[in-house]
Amino acid sequence: MRVTSLDLANFRNYAALHFEPPGGVCVLLGANAQGKSNLLEALSLLATGKSFRAAREADLVAEGTPLARIAARVHRAGGDVTAGCFITRVGEGARKRFVRNGRTVAYAHFLGTLAAVTFLPSDLHVVGGPPALRRRFLNAALAQCDRTYYRHHAAYTKVILQKNALLKSAAPDEKLLATYNAQLADSGSQIIGARAAYVRKLAAAAREVHARWVGPQPELGVRYLPNPTLPDGDESPGTVFAQLEKALAASASAEMLRRSALVGPHRDDMALELGGVALERYGSQGQQRTALLALKAAEYQLLAQAAGEPPLLLLDDVLSELDAQRRHAFMLSIEDCEQVFVTATDAPETLPRTATTVYEIRAGTVRRAPAAAAS
Ligand SMILES: Nc1ncnc2c1ncn2[C@@H]1O[C@H](COP(=O)(O)OP(=O)(O)O)[C@@H](O)[C@H]1O
Ligand SMILES: [Mg+2]
Repeated sequence: MRVTSLDLANFRNYAALHFEPPGGVCVLLGANAQGKSNLLEALSLLATGKSFRAAREADLVAEGTPLARIAARVHRAGGDVTAGCFITRVGEGARKRFVRNGRTVAYAHFLGTLAAVTFLPSDLHVVGGPPALRRRFLNAALAQCDRTYYRHHAAYTKVILQKNALLKSAAPDEKLLATYNAQLADSGSQIIGARAAYVRKLAAAAREVHARWVGPQPELGVRYLPNPTLPDGDESPGTVFAQLEKALAASASAEMLRRSALVGPHRDDMALELGGVALERYGSQGQQRTALLALKAAEYQLLAQAAGEPPLLLLDDVLSELDAQRRHAFMLSIEDCEQVFVTATDAPETLPRTATTVYEIRAGTVRRAPAAAAS
């Protein structure tokens, strides 16, 4: 798929942008703080419904204005679609409204209109950072592949908040707690089942990509670490549900004592290993980067399968952080991309010569670069 037009109004530092990007590789060049990341953020927001920066959503709306708009026309194998998002300031926060083919739709129905894999410098923390970052990686990847995943995850998250609030109250109502646990077993087992299936496919694809780049040894291992642990890795829905139900019951008194929900997929993790040892402890920085690139390439493959066509690829400032060999390997592995957006402060020298268009971004404007800058 590819975006054939993008319109921004009062989105971050873009007062008004109309941009008709071509297919292939679009290189977005510009000095710092000109709007390169903001442009990728707008595209990514249409794919995931969320900003890839953790900041307040009100910050998406240009300062001094009440409403931001992102709108894109997307060329897909099955025909063109339009995707839009309106972000309105509401007090300190913001409200989002999603539009698909001109009609306002719920977030769950909006997901899947545009598919994109995003790669940011901060993604490197998926390897060495806390488990929450690996769960976030899985959630973002899965929500785009599987609409029901998002619903189960939203339901689960809501009940976890309620349960934690109840556990912190003076005398938690045990009946209500049991109701919450039953709901958590339902949605939680769906999440675990989906993550288990996804990570199995992700692991196979990442292992293969990694072996192609660095040879078969040391092998890249990606393993899902569900909470609770499943007996012999049995991931059938019945087993997952029964295990989670059992674990919730078994930890009831500990949860009362600690006043916090202790079991369930909100405590999941994913192990990343090289030759059987933990990557974050034993891998060099170069090895960690290569592993992460392989993981991203695998995410791309799986999303392409789920969407039925290649998603967009959004690379923000990451190519400059890789050495020439890794950059080259990565670009080769995504050769079949229909559309890639790459931001950089200087033109990367290893970009493919064909189907590459260079733009200059300056203070919220996008202009085709003169031929000299493009070569
Ligand atoms: N809500 C906003 N209103 C106006 N300008 C904003 C807003 N949010 C961010 N900006 C501006 O956007 C610029 C940063 O854009 P960004 O895309 O991150 O830069 P870069 O080109 O380095 O990737 C900064 O100048 C910042 O002040
Ligand atoms: Mg940037």
